[in-house]
Amino acid sequence: MKIGMLTGGGDCPGLNAVIRAIVRKGVFTYEDEFVGFLEGWRGLIENLSMPLDLEAVAGILPRGGTILRTSRTNPAKRPDGIDRCLDTLEKNGVQALIAIGGDDTLSVAQKLHERGTRVVGIPKTIDNDLGGTDYTFGFDTACNIVCEALDRVHTTAEAHNRVMVVEVMGRDAGWIALYSGIAGGADVILIPERPFDVDKVADSIRERHERGLYFSIIVVAEGAKFSSEGGQGSPVLSDMGKDEFGHVKLGGIANILAREIEKRTGFETRAVVLGHIQRGGSPSAFDRVLATRYGLGAIDMVHRGEFGSMAALRANKIVSIPLVDAITRNRAVDDEMIQVADGLFARTADREAAGR
Ligand code: F6P
Repeated sequence: MKIGMLTGGGDCPGLNAVIRAIVRKGVFTYEDEFVGFLEGWRGLIENLSMPLDLEAVAGILPRGGTILRTSRTNPAKRPDGIDRCLDTLEKNGVQALIAIGGDDTLSVAQKLHERGTRVVGIPKTIDNDLGGTDYTFGFDTACNIVCEALDRVHTTAEAHNRVMVVEVMGRDAGWIALYSGIAGGADVILIPERPFDVDKVADSIRERHERGLYFSIIVVAEGAKFSSEGGQGSPVLSDMGKDEFGHVKLGGIANILAREIEKRTGFETRAVVLGHIQRGGSPSAFDRVLATRYGLGAIDMVHRGEFGSMAALRANKIVSIPLVDAITRNRAVDDEMIQVADGLFARTADREAAGR
């Protein structure tokens, strides 16, 4: 079968491992032929492609990024964008398409599926917040990077009696902040799911210092929100621009929070923004294996004719779920994980009252 492939949205460690697994199983088991479309959906709009054979995927397993490159191009926002994608698939004799991406990329895959394209999706985001699947590859690598950064930040914070506010990725969900915060021994973890009161954060830092600990580490997800009177607050934007899928650019909460903590406590406070370091470089062993399993699952789904579906991880098994299940809802951090983090911290009067 001739199969097209693309990677869309933000890059993610493990993308090359997925591509490699698909091509190897496709060639060895099914005698497939592959064409790689470049730079996400832009490759289909503009017919930019490269052959994907065993040679093209040799040696890419440990490499970060994606050999197909990526973009946040949205065909639905371009004149005739979807039609042009369909034309390109036809011109290239593509019989099935594997789209590797997050909810934005997969929502375009669903649109093509509705127009008759035989599509299988693979979930991808370091944020780990895609619906329908337990884990996305890239998340583990990102957490390892943040955890190492937290270990480093700890020693300098301790040496200077400082509060350090570390901003991590996590636009809608706080998975990276929570996991790496637990793994890295953070003193406060702030996530988008729970808007926070800066006065209470300052109180908990003060309590620590009263217990004789003169440094503190706060991990904050970029999408975390200051709670406002009776409302849920809004995230801090780095600028007013939006990408083609309508997402605003987040960033800057650590600097604001650091200023507010210092103002309230008098403790010297610094902000560290980890940014795209979290997405770069070689995938962890866990992500290489997970990405490989997703790739193998997806190529099998193509040959079983399970189109309009996405490979998903459920209870440590790769299964097939409808694409719509993944794109219609975001997977927020669940209460059980929040309780794991809460269990490690001193119970303030407020949390006692709320029974947490
Ligand atoms: O979607 C994953 C993500 O890493 C978000 O956490 C973050 O807000 C965004 O991508 C950053 O995107 P860009 O690479 O376009 O700056």
